[in-house]
Amino acid sequence: MGLWRARARGITEGPTPADRAGRPALPYPSGWSALAFSDELPARKVLTRPLAGEDVVLYRLPTGALRAVRPYCPHLGAHLGLAEVEGEDLVCPFHLFAFGPDGTCVRTGYGTAPPRSPLDTLPVCEVNGAVFVWRHHDGRAPDWTIPAWHVIGGRPARHTTWELCGQVQEVIENSVDVGHFATLHGWKKAETGKPVVYDGARFHVSLVAHESAPLLGDFTVEVEVDGYGLGCLHADAYTPRLGLRMCTTVMPTAIGPHRMQFRQLNRLEFAEPGFLPGPAARLVSRTAERLLGRAVFRASCEFTAADFPVWNHKQYRKPPRLAHGDGPIGAFRQWARGFYPAPAEREEGPGRTAEADRHRTPGAPASPHAHEAVRHPRQAPAPARHTHANPGSRKDTF
Ligand code: FES
Ligand SMILES: [Fe+2]
Repeated sequence: MGLWRARARGITEGPTPADRAGRPALPYPSGWSALAFSDELPARKVLTRPLAGEDVVLYRLPTGALRAVRPYCPHLGAHLGLAEVEGEDLVCPFHLFAFGPDGTCVRTGYGTAPPRSPLDTLPVCEVNGAVFVWRHHDGRAPDWTIPAWHVIGGRPARHTTWELCGQVQEVIENSVDVGHFATLHGWKKAETGKPVVYDGARFHVSLVAHESAPLLGDFTVEVEVDGYGLGCLHADAYTPRLGLRMCTTVMPTAIGPHRMQFRQLNRLEFAEPGFLPGPAARLVSRTAERLLGRAVFRASCEFTAADFPVWNHKQYRKPPRLAHGDGPIGAFRQWARGFYPAPAEREEGPGRTAEADRHRTPGAPASPHAHEAVRHPRQAPAPARHTHANPGSRKDTF
């Protein structure tokens, strides 16, 4: 068993010190959350996945289109994770009520007129090999998107899922916690290349890692990180010395108080040697990818897993006691606040369930900004593009 597997917790394990720490410090964040990889959902597949204390049922139609619905049948409440896709319809097993692609009830198992009781659907999108579902604490429709990233290499992406304790925000925050790359992950040194850019629901940070290895000596890794909300982050890491480019998508999803599922997807490619003619250079690149792909993926998972014991047992500090040498965590936390209810709305607390939210959401109008690429989830209008370069801000209260 790899170390990165041993460091993950099985879903049947009991509470950890983090679970026992009391009331979680943060509510569930709003935005897009990954619930599956695309290849887990072939045509006609029905899948149940947790999100924010409640099940979500995903299914794929024969046309390839995806649907996400709340789990209980509007008739008498059977769990739709037991349903089947027949033709274009989702059919509940209890009384064979069938629901069309738009969620409308189109027939009953009795042959009688279908009632006007549609499925409770959720916004869903499929991008970069993963399936994301939108959830917003005030029922707002999606007003930002996750873009499609470049696809590198000639082989399918590799991916894995872990279940961990902790807050999804802290997974994303990891990318600006520059100090821990040396102290926990073993890099010789890491630094932010430019100030972090925050632009609506997106942020961008450039990192340069200084590494050293036997045979290779000293070398650098250039990392461009793009985060979208608190549920998706793309890291494009290039190691010039090896000609290796690796794209890692990190997708933490809050499934309950103090609990998350963590999905990671990797693609890689090796540069084509410039001294060889085109076809031979491509062959060398693709062969290296085929022979080393598994080992590079395992190394990437090991790197990620170094954080697991910390997340499984830590407490969310607010405010944190930051110090010189930390990354720009203070500014990140200010940005992250936009994904949560305003303080007065948080009376229900972080343990509140999506079920509670559900009663706020029916009939929420589609956002007039639904086609904007990026907008801050709690700010309107779109904030100006700005940067933060104040590492170690001590003014955080969140
Ligand atoms: S509960 Fe689903 S059809 Fe009756
Ligand atoms: Fe980390």
